[in-house]
Amino acid sequence: MDGVKALMTLSVLGIACSPRKNGNTTQLLLEAMKTVHKEGHKTEIVYLSDLNMNPCQGCNACSAKGICVIKDDISKLQEKLSQADRVILAAPIFMMGVNSQTKIMIDRMQTFWALKYLHHQSLIKPLGPERIGLFLSAAGTEKTDVFKCAERSIQTLFHMLDIRYAQPCLYSGIDQAGEINEHPTAFDDVCLAARALILS
Ligand SMILES: Cc1cc2nc3c(=O)[nH]c(=O)nc-3n(C[C@H](O)[C@H](O)[C@H](O)COP(=O)(O)O)c2cc1C
Repeated sequence: MDGVKALMTLSVLGIACSPRKNGNTTQLLLEAMKTVHKEGHKTEIVYLSDLNMNPCQGCNACSAKGICVIKDDISKLQEKLSQADRVILAAPIFMMGVNSQTKIMIDRMQTFWALKYLHHQSLIKPLGPERIGLFLSAAGTEKTDVFKCAERSIQTLFHMLDIRYAQPCLYSGIDQAGEINEHPTAFDDVCLAARALILS
């Protein structure tokens, strides 16, 4: 079984959610994606700050047909999310939760909720491998519960997309862009987590 897993080329989607392209979470994501790429898997990174994304209007139009009425770049991201075998989502903590770009993206996945729970449609590729997701995050403070709300949101997103939540890599006390480079273990941790993600 291990041999079969090692031969399988996985499609790994990285989502950079920070508005800072040189920021801490994006650097962690790039490291994780480098590891995955070196192992021979197919990688793609989407930067949310490059997308034209509008917030969910709560109109519930998606409940009727599972299609969102807002026409922007989210539909392309939905397609990528439904096809990926692994997802690595890197998002910073803003105001004790995920930053707004991440929250806009998550809310717009309500279409998947409607498809799954109202229309009983499967989002998983038939015969594809189990889908697994890794959450990477950084926060400026060292408050004990600083990642709690963010984790809950990401777990909800992954659950809705039938993606198993892997052990996340979360770093507190990391504030200025690039400060993550001074962390003693972060890049090694992320490499290990990325490797575990593709071997699971
Ligand atoms: C608008 C804003 C709100 C923030 N709110 C929090 C917060 O509530 N708790 C915290 O620990 N850090 C907070 N931070 C600090 C960021 O989490 C920290 O700078 C992090 O390293 C940013 O990651 P990035 O470089 O990947 O964007 C906030 C930063 C900004 C810009």
